[in-house]
Amino acid sequence: MENPKTAMNPEVRSGWDTDVLIIGSGAAGLRAALAASEHANVTLITKTTLTESNTHYAQGGIAVAMNLDDTIALHIKDTCVAGAGLCDVVAVEMMVSEGIPRVAELLDWGANFDWEGTLPRFTQEAAHSRRRIVHKGDATGRETTDVLIQRVRNTERIHVLQNAFAIDLITDAALKESSQELITCYGIIAIVEEQIVSIRAKATILATGGLGRVYPCTSNPQIATGDGFAAAWRAGCEMIDMEFVQFHPTTLFLDGAPNFLISEAVRGEGGTLLNIRGERFMEKYHEKGELAPRDIVSRSIQNEMHLTQFPCVYLDITHKTTDFIQERFPTISATTKHYGLDINVDLIPVRPGAHFMMGGIRTNTDTQTNIDGLYACGEVACTGVHGANRLASNSLLECLVYGARAGRNAANFASTQPAGPPDLPILSNVGASATLSTETAEIDIEEIKSAIRETLWENVSIERTGEGLQNTLAVLQGITESLGDMVTCSETKDVSTFETLNMLNVALMITQSALARTESRGAHYRFDFPTRDDLKWQRRILITRDNPPEIVPL
Ligand code: FAD
Ligand code: SIN
Repeated sequence: MENPKTAMNPEVRSGWDTDVLIIGSGAAGLRAALAASEHANVTLITKTTLTESNTHYAQGGIAVAMNLDDTIALHIKDTCVAGAGLCDVVAVEMMVSEGIPRVAELLDWGANFDWEGTLPRFTQEAAHSRRRIVHKGDATGRETTDVLIQRVRNTERIHVLQNAFAIDLITDAALKESSQELITCYGIIAIVEEQIVSIRAKATILATGGLGRVYPCTSNPQIATGDGFAAAWRAGCEMIDMEFVQFHPTTLFLDGAPNFLISEAVRGEGGTLLNIRGERFMEKYHEKGELAPRDIVSRSIQNEMHLTQFPCVYLDITHKTTDFIQERFPTISATTKHYGLDINVDLIPVRPGAHFMMGGIRTNTDTQTNIDGLYACGEVACTGVHGANRLASNSLLECLVYGARAGRNAANFASTQPAGPPDLPILSNVGASATLSTETAEIDIEEIKSAIRETLWENVSIERTGEGLQNTLAVLQGITESLGDMVTCSETKDVSTFETLNMLNVALMITQSALARTESRGAHYRFDFPTRDDLKWQRRILITRDNPPEIVPL
């Protein structure tokens, strides 16, 4: 059998393919591309189509301190309270203050958000002390990506490659004598038109979004299999806060309907939660009722489902007029109608689902990772802005602010690079953790995906215990071992196979980090350690491919 590492050496070329390579076409990647293109040639690749991303499905809106009664200080405070003591305040301050010009510029570029008089129509969402969410009905993500995509398409220096799947980062790690030496990134290995190719870049930006699809119940679209987290981890990136997965309280639970989010804005506009007995229950759990922080609403719903032995609760917005619902929630209204539900008169069956990853590739506020020439922004990155729990509608804001910073910084870095890349063997890091192939082995990829999802849902979701986490670790290690002897990934060009491996890698990172944090905080709740312990745990957990989880200061 061919050595998996040399098998990935498809071509020897000299010269760069691009100055700045961006992976991902959500808000972060698109915004980064626009910023980078002011100083460099850019290639932006995306897994499926330019429009397909978590961003595209964003409903509620973008939080921004632009309302007359609002201040930057208040927005920072709300973000840090939701973040449960783990936010990086400098990064938050940057996001909130730079967010104002970023949103203003989006409006300038033609974003047609809802408007009231001379100001955007600000809406309310949970744990915000002010109405500060700008939105376009319940399709803010679509409006945002439409504007950004149009600008990207009109920018000559940006070359877009669709249906291009990034497998791994190209680095010089193999040439380093010691693991302490700085590694440099020189682009990626990807599947393009069913061929494995390398794309060599002076600077690379990972903007690959989230990982909701490692859970069976999620608000995320199919692309969200955690590819960027896994590729970065395999290449030697520091990963941080990976135990903090946010579960959105209200995803649709309807026979025959796909995963679909029911926006928090429905509760922001007065929607109430009822259990199967028709009882309103949130006031029992938190003084802010339905507008309590997300982790609390999700756990309360889970508890009511347990108490009533019923698989969902209900969201009631029937007190609003049909005109209001149609204007404010056209997407939710049309989608539920398609599945036989009229939200003007019917209660909406909902339950929590995996929604957002607070942790990710550790970056500084300049979006630099610990690998030279590699930048990360958006959901795949972790500057620490969200701490242990993200405040609603802060993610799109983060993408705009840190996307622009990533683009600028990567372009600057690219301008300092020599005329050609070093002669590097094209190594796949996939071989370093596990390899798999659908072609020669009897593996049912869908079965492996389901096994990962089921064990995570059972033990690593809204409520966790040490025992459950250990069980999941054993299941994941069992899967890894069973794949260990399989043939090299170079023999497959099947995206689903690589996604499965990525899911396995991120599932391990989440589980190991969750096991290490022996307290409850924000989105991480341990039955066996139910209280928050600031003395011991106002710290972060860092994880790398070659080392066990390490506790590091804020
Ligand atoms: P994404 O938008 O997910 O984009 C990632 C891109 O990377 C995609 O184009 C994907 O195809 C590409 N990609 C992934 N892997 C690969 C690969 N291997 N090779 C090539 N390309 C790859 N946040 C808010 O602030 N406000 C909201 O109202 C809101 N509503 C939401 C509603 C829903 C249903 C969901 C799922 C999320 C919502 N969020 C919201 C969260 C927010 O939308 C996301 O966190 C944010 O859009 C992430 O943006 P991103 O650019 O980092 O990643
Ligand atoms: C929602 O509309 O409820 C999602 C908002 C968010 O995730 O910030």
